Amino acid sequence: MKKKLVLWTMSVLMGLSLVACGSDKPAADNKDKTPTEEAGKSTGEVANKDKPLVWYNRQPSNSSTGELDMTAMNFNKDTYYVGFDANQGAELQGTMVKEYIEANIDKIDRNGDGVIGYVLAIGDIGHNDSIARTRGVRKALGTAVEKDGNIDSTPVGTNTDGSAKVVQDGKLEVNGKSYTIRELASQEMKNSAGATWDAATAGNAIGTWSSSFGDQIDIVASNNDGMGMSMFNAWSKENKVATFGYDANSDAVAAIAEGYGGTISQHADVQAYLTLRVLRNALDGVDIDTGIGTADDAGNVLSKDVYVYKEAERSYYALNVAVTADNYKDFTDSTKVYEPVSKQLDESKHASKKVWLNIYNSADNFLSATYQPLLQNYDDLMNLDIDYIGGDGQTESNITNRLGNPGQYDAFAINMVKTDNAASYTGLLNQ
Ligand code: BGC
Repeated sequence: MKKKLVLWTMSVLMGLSLVACGSDKPAADNKDKTPTEEAGKSTGEVANKDKPLVWYNRQPSNSSTGELDMTAMNFNKDTYYVGFDANQGAELQGTMVKEYIEANIDKIDRNGDGVIGYVLAIGDIGHNDSIARTRGVRKALGTAVEKDGNIDSTPVGTNTDGSAKVVQDGKLEVNGKSYTIRELASQEMKNSAGATWDAATAGNAIGTWSSSFGDQIDIVASNNDGMGMSMFNAWSKENKVATFGYDANSDAVAAIAEGYGGTISQHADVQAYLTLRVLRNALDGVDIDTGIGTADDAGNVLSKDVYVYKEAERSYYALNVAVTADNYKDFTDSTKVYEPVSKQLDESKHASKKVWLNIYNSADNFLSATYQPLLQNYDDLMNLDIDYIGGDGQTESNITNRLGNPGQYDAFAINMVKTDNAASYTGLLNQ
């Protein structure tokens, strides 16, 4: 009864058909309706601004200060962010590199100058994940310098003589002997068209670095595997220099058998699940914890050791795991769904819904080789019919141009080019 009344009021208020519902008419506000009423509606009946929205992988935030964009995160009552714990992962990555140096101290100093030199590929100086990883490596290796109460994450350029100001020489004691650790070089891997985390740029950089100070490089570190593997294939594999990345993409995990030093799994299998699960729950009008901390009707549930939810940030964060020569065989297929949440939802109870989802850069190794295949495995299990939109990694408009008719979709999953740009998307949903 009440549902009919709401629908009737909506059409009267709009004076027209329900198709015009994309605007912010008062009757379309769902705040005072029960979730079940909302859940029963079809695409055209819910205003775009009230549809479930998940930001993922690039957290709405100020790209200079890292401050979260809570306006974007509170766009409506069904808005969330899904990512992973960047600091915990960054710390793991730094520790993994440090432990490798300690365990291999006798053979690691290739030119015997007493300085353990490393180079670092930086993904995007305005991306929280990238900043955290640069800090994590510098902190663990003792090369960090504080700036405004935090570790400076500025790329050093070239620092073969150790005179740079944004990093310092670290000291490491192993077996009673003292070693110097130096960040010989680091730069943001951005190509001339503006795409960040650019693997080809990293491949070129290692070429330049190795030709001018190759014998000083004892370790290669990278903010991700895409760039790490590009450097490994271009130089470090042949020169037997351990290279460390992040993401646990399948090719990087396989390369551990050939000398790749290690990587970090950001539990993309859990993140991809959460990305779609928060939408599914909002569309079903059920408690947001369903199938997450509380088992759903099919038995899907996550244990507390694989994710955290921070309510004040409206954010789900998957936890990271280090992948090294010791355990890499457990991580060989990065696109496999996480078993505890792999059960099919019954379509008679969880009706098929249409979702618009974008990948900010279709050339990004992690997102295209690991994350998207995972999403494609989960979408069937959750009865979500998803349109996947691949961006060029350079401009937001390349993506937003393809969100011309949000009224056709029940929910949205957004991966921004630049973390400051949430309004380019919410603006379209508010129209
Ligand atoms: C991943 C990177 C990826 C970036 C894209 C990060 O979380 O680790 O590999 O390039 O997200 O936004």
